[in-house]
Amino acid sequence: SPELPDILADGFAADPYSAYGVLREKAPLFWHEGTQSYVISRYEDVARAFRDPVFTTANYDWQLEPVHGRTILQLSGREHAVRRGLVAPAFRGDELRDKFLPVIERNARTLIDDFRDAGKVELVGQFSTHFPINVIVDMLGLDQADHARFQRWYTSIIAFLGNLAQDPEVAEAGLRTREELAAYMLPIIARRREEPGDDLLSRLCLAEIDGTRMSDEDIKAFVSLLLAAGGETTDKAVSALFANLLAHPDQLAAVQRDRELIPRAFAETLRYSPPVHMIMRQPAEDVAVTGGTIPAGSTVTCLIGAANRDPERYRDPGRFDIFRDDLTTTSAFSAAADHLAFALGRHFCVGALLAKTEIEVGTNMLLDAMPDVRLAAGADPVEHGVFTRGPARLPLEFTPQG
Ligand code: HEM
Repeated sequence: SPELPDILADGFAADPYSAYGVLREKAPLFWHEGTQSYVISRYEDVARAFRDPVFTTANYDWQLEPVHGRTILQLSGREHAVRRGLVAPAFRGDELRDKFLPVIERNARTLIDDFRDAGKVELVGQFSTHFPINVIVDMLGLDQADHARFQRWYTSIIAFLGNLAQDPEVAEAGLRTREELAAYMLPIIARRREEPGDDLLSRLCLAEIDGTRMSDEDIKAFVSLLLAAGGETTDKAVSALFANLLAHPDQLAAVQRDRELIPRAFAETLRYSPPVHMIMRQPAEDVAVTGGTIPAGSTVTCLIGAANRDPERYRDPGRFDIFRDDLTTTSAFSAAADHLAFALGRHFCVGALLAKTEIEVGTNMLLDAMPDVRLAAGADPVEHGVFTRGPARLPLEFTPQG
């Protein structure tokens, strides 16, 4: 209907949350011409689309295949579970702590050392866009000297995935990235098969599924997914967490005093300002949701940013409140449905614990280096983005600790 907000229109990105409110209220299910999809926005419906196996990720293919190749996001059933199982242990408790915690700490420290004596930092450009990608590059055992390429690649992959308006330049850059990444990775994969090391890439090269190994092309696709999924999202989460705390000085002061509150600040940040705003699904059968029926085989756009602020699920959902009692910080690791920033169900973010660990380590170190952190004079931390979203710039000031 013409008076409904258009998720592709100019102005939507400036304030998606008021548009989300209109959609949740007036059009919890509607057909969106621009994306040729049914859009859902209520918590209950989006949570169901993530959890109910009638919804698959099949329709993702047109979006993911051209830029990544075949990844676990497009797979389902046993094939999905087996492939996911190849990386999952690296992102869980013991291995994460023993092997990768030092990697996370080292990468945070290196970036902070570059600005700790300056008394000022632009957090997005100098910290958050580098930290998570550097961690995943080290985990894979790739070369940090190529940092600028990895950063360019993950940015253009995410731009491709979020290219809802089908800008041809963005599409072309994404396809070029696929070729560049293949040209870069395939020789490295070949060498790693000959001489495996103690890294995630070697694990992917050696892993056997039902007696056969993954093809070089599949491993390259996995790396492509890890760079994009592990880079962009945590990047946005770090800067959004700081932007949210700085906008609520009493909560910032509480976290500065009691670092045990960081997981709460992280969970509330993911609810209030999720890095990923839209995820696609496809129902195998007709499915009834609030407001009507989604026909089998159609594409469904799940609005995470809208669901996370559904007043039916959260009290006063437009308020950032790390002390709220209707959100737990353990959802990542239990079946309890909570904020939807990591999705739910079989494709629940496999890197959730890694992201949480990165945020805890990074936030702790940043707060130590900047005990009196404040927004720089004149800074206006606006968010940008429709598919993924976070602060565009976050200039901060602080007294150097000497
Ligand atoms: C899946 C969000 C960090 C790797 C997902 C999904 C979401 C998500 C929403 C589900 C996609 C879907 O169902 O279509 C986030 C957020 C993060 C984060 C908000 C940070 C705050 C990471 C990290 C990694 C990672 C650090 C690891 C490098 C993945 C992978 C999947 C995934 C491989 C696919 C899982 C599957 O299909 O089974 N993530 N993610 N993510 N994430 Fe994350």
